[in-house]
Amino acid sequence: MYNKTVKVCCGTGCLANGSNQVLGALRKEIEAQRLDIEVVPYVKATGCNGLCERGPIVKIEPDDIAYYHVKPEDVVEIVEKTVIKGEEIPRLLYLDVVSKQRIRSHKDSDFIKKQTKIALRNIGEIDPSQIQDYVDAGGYAALRKAVFELSPEDIISEMKASGLRGRGGGGFPTGIKWETCYKIKREPKYIICNGDEGDPGAFMDRSVMEGDPHTVLEGMIIAAVALGVHHGYIYIRDEYGLALENMHKAIEQAKEHHFLGDNILGSEHSFDLEIVRGGGAFVCGESSALMASIEGRVGEPRAKYIRSAEYGLWGQPTVLNNVETWSNIPVIIQNGSSWFNEIGSPQNAGTKVFSLVGKVKNTGLVEVPMGITLEELIFGIGGGITGDKEFKAVQTGGPSGGCIPKELLHLAVDFDTLEAAGSMMGSGGMIVTDERTCMVEFARYYVSFLAEESCGKCVSCREGIRQMLKILTDICEGKGQLQDLDLLTEIAHTVEQASLCGLGKTAPNPVMSTLKYFKDEYLEHITEGRCRAGVCKPLTEFMIDQELCIGCGLCKKGCAPDAIQGSLKQPHVIDQGKCIKCGNCIDRCRFKAVRVR
Ligand SMILES: Cc1cc2nc3c(=O)[nH]c(=O)nc-3n(C[C@H](O)[C@H](O)[C@H](O)COP(=O)(O)O)c2cc1C
Ligand code: SF4
Ligand code: SF4
Ligand code: SF4
Ligand code: FES
Repeated sequence: MYNKTVKVCCGTGCLANGSNQVLGALRKEIEAQRLDIEVVPYVKATGCNGLCERGPIVKIEPDDIAYYHVKPEDVVEIVEKTVIKGEEIPRLLYLDVVSKQRIRSHKDSDFIKKQTKIALRNIGEIDPSQIQDYVDAGGYAALRKAVFELSPEDIISEMKASGLRGRGGGGFPTGIKWETCYKIKREPKYIICNGDEGDPGAFMDRSVMEGDPHTVLEGMIIAAVALGVHHGYIYIRDEYGLALENMHKAIEQAKEHHFLGDNILGSEHSFDLEIVRGGGAFVCGESSALMASIEGRVGEPRAKYIRSAEYGLWGQPTVLNNVETWSNIPVIIQNGSSWFNEIGSPQNAGTKVFSLVGKVKNTGLVEVPMGITLEELIFGIGGGITGDKEFKAVQTGGPSGGCIPKELLHLAVDFDTLEAAGSMMGSGGMIVTDERTCMVEFARYYVSFLAEESCGKCVSCREGIRQMLKILTDICEGKGQLQDLDLLTEIAHTVEQASLCGLGKTAPNPVMSTLKYFKDEYLEHITEGRCRAGVCKPLTEFMIDQELCIGCGLCKKGCAPDAIQGSLKQPHVIDQGKCIKCGNCIDRCRFKAVRVR
């Protein structure tokens, strides 16, 4: 009897692309074939493999074959050819965007090969609804070690020596946070997991909670054992349905297996966990606002003269860590701090998970050692820019991060380097832009998000962000004046200096970084009334270069208002009266014949 496993990615991205139907069809087909063949495949639903745009993804093991964009209609062929005979179906294999080659094993693609997986180590491999899968992959061994072999002081000193810094954005050393809480003798103490993840486009924490919930639990239980904590909370935004479901299931299973609850693994340690649903406000991801929200108060930040490790939930000592931070803990305890410390760069140990999105060929979830250059991340793993467009900037750090230009692609991706460049690591959002991105409009978009999400407690943040938004909108609409640039800078400094929490303090980043690196685009908008990216409609006019146009007609086909005229093989022209400035023609033309005037 020859056992095979067929793994179907059932993360949110693949589910949206129909992986449940593929899973159902596979189960049915395998059941139907069972009587005649000596193959016993076992279909597993796994978490996100990181390449959601190519989903649904199906992996067949031990053959190590991965298929992408699988449809229910492909299932019979997959079972007959690959599951039974071990043969490949070339059209379903991974298509490398650079070499244009089909690749049999997903592990051989540059996208996977160049990553180092710690936080994501099990995701896409194990079935998150089965605790046994996690245990078989080495799960809960670190908890046993923490309970039976290490003292609380040993655990804390391992955490300190590991150099792990919080992955939620601030980069605060985790071991020091734990030690501060440990040293305070007031009881009760609390532990919280921050699964709010409010950054637009970010899905790192969701994927961990969906695809490997036990690693988060194990990290939290280890901290509870070290700090003598009996109660903890996991704060998850309400939109994260699958993450909520899988975390709930994992808590129940961990209790059944005595990893959680009273007398953990038969020891004197007891710890219980509760899930709290967040309402979706971005500011509720901030530590003190999150704690207020758990207490049932309005989710507004407080001043941090006293850290929450001392005065946190209900005024008690509290350790709050991010989902990704928690998922690193079991591996650090199991493998030791020096193992972890050797990965990454000095002062920035370990790896970081990013959601790499925007105008990059391979979008998805990637985990890389800290210290990797932006270039390697965007071009090596991401495969470069889509179409034949030019890279313009990368936005890191979520809505209040900054934009880093081409000249700085050599920079290392770590907390300190990105901050020195006027951006930040944040929780791992990374948005790549190309020549068709207007940096003024880009800054305006983030500032409008922050204006919506400011809780309004501080005048500087509430009014300052609104004023920056008004000025940026004026510039995008062609109503900007040169003195606006000084005013923007002045307001940005005030917002940064006078605001209470991280939202206000970092809100000027999108404006200041674009003003620093892309001032020429601001000036063009104001003095020439021109948006070179062709995004700000009042400042844009598209035209076709008669020398470059070969009359292929591609642009014409994508022009909804029928504004392009011309016969086949003859240069085309745009009727400005009809043009709605959608930009489809410039994106479609492969000959760079469409220009922004
Ligand atoms: C406006 C704002 C939103 C935040 N949102 C999140 C979030 O969604 N998830 C998160 O882990 N940290 C978020 N943080 C950071 C938290 O305040 C806190 O530093 C972090 O959860 C601590 O965990 P760590 O040390 O493991 O990073 C946010 C901070 C600010 C100022
Ligand atoms: S800085 Fe902004 S989000 Fe933070 S407390 Fe003040 S008003 Fe609220
Ligand atoms: S797609 Fe380009 S080359 Fe083709 S007709 Fe349009 S402008 Fe000319
Ligand atoms: S910008 Fe849009 S509407 Fe205008 S010519 Fe091009 S495709 Fe047509
Ligand atoms: S959900 Fe399947 S690859 Fe992300």
